[in-house]
Amino acid sequence: MLFDSTSLKDLTLDNRVGLAPMTRVSATEDGCATDEMAQYYAKFADGGFSFLVTEGVYTDNAYSKGYLSQPGLVTADHVDAWSTVVAAVHDAGSPIFAQLMHCGAQNQGMPPSEPQETIAPSAVQPEAEKSEAYGGSGSYPVPEQATHDDLDTAREGFVSAAKNAAEAGFDGVEIHGANGYFLNEFLSSTMNQRDDEYGGGPEARVRYPAEVVSAVADAVPEEFVVGIRISQTMVTDTEHQWKEGEDAAAVFFEELSAAGADFVHTTEPDATVSSFGEAGFSLGEAAVEYVTDDTVVIANGGLGTPEAARSALEDGADLLTLATSALANPDWPTRAAHDDELVEFDYRKFLRPEATISEHELPNNTPSSNN
Ligand SMILES: Cc1cc2nc3c(=O)[nH]c(=O)nc-3n(C[C@H](O)[C@H](O)[C@H](O)COP(=O)(O)O)c2cc1C
Repeated sequence: MLFDSTSLKDLTLDNRVGLAPMTRVSATEDGCATDEMAQYYAKFADGGFSFLVTEGVYTDNAYSKGYLSQPGLVTADHVDAWSTVVAAVHDAGSPIFAQLMHCGAQNQGMPPSEPQETIAPSAVQPEAEKSEAYGGSGSYPVPEQATHDDLDTAREGFVSAAKNAAEAGFDGVEIHGANGYFLNEFLSSTMNQRDDEYGGGPEARVRYPAEVVSAVADAVPEEFVVGIRISQTMVTDTEHQWKEGEDAAAVFFEELSAAGADFVHTTEPDATVSSFGEAGFSLGEAAVEYVTDDTVVIANGGLGTPEAARSALEDGADLLTLATSALANPDWPTRAAHDDELVEFDYRKFLRPEATISEHELPNNTPSSNN
């Protein structure tokens, strides 16, 4: 099953295993992707991943950028730089989607020496410290509650970044609605305490993310893929659960899929266990249950063994993605198909002290040949 080919909209995928988005803070200061990043991404396509999702890419010059050295899709230079990455990945045989990200209150990598205002659905401070691996330190600022003008600007940012992604040659975009960033904060009754049309019950909380999906889907070419990533947990609250449990999941997945999402990419710490009480669905299973007709479900989280990966497909997901196990095994699909041994992921080799791409990750210098 893992190695059967399949389709996603008009794309043919060689197998069911894709690369999950991973922020690597390796772009230039002004947000351009680099030749090293082209080599880094192409390596996963060479290794058999049938589709790739990029790291989170910022979408506007107002409040979206979340890290120093994060790549953007805002300027003509950003488009040029990404087109080199896209061409390298296409040459290696895989489609690639840009993950469009607005950081919201979780502006991770801006050190205290560079104070930057943040916006979020409500003025609720994330309860955690910024990530040192992304260059941040100290606590997050209390965000400003986004005004309707801010929401218009952010929505337009997603739309223009998606058009820029199409121009750069990407096969589609994944809108980042997971992990505690801006769109994900709308789904949470803790982070979203608005009393306008975007706050309240699940129908209201999903309204803004669904508007973004629909605005993007309306603006891009017909064949261009538009997906959204969803989680319950957040970088700053790894235990976070939606107050209404599976009832909220039902509304969120139905509305996002009706808004025009070609795929829903769920992420949770362990996609093989229940996300809603002991005997409930995993988040991926809930997506399978509640998305409408032809919306594809991609599962992620703790699926780095072939057994776990297979179980996600048996639970109904169409596709799955790998993050940390892909770093350790950039040729995971090829290895797994040949029953070759897999290398265990070690944080220290890839993400410490910083999450930037290391020399040993570039082609002809792979972790397995290096260590
Ligand atoms: C270094 C690193 C960076 C990440 N950056 C992103 C990101 O930019 N966008 C996102 O949606 N998830 C991001 N994630 C989460 C992963 O996509 C994935 O959901 C998580 O690692 C669980 O999958 P795994 O068990 O296969 O590692 C990141 C994870 C890691 C390890």
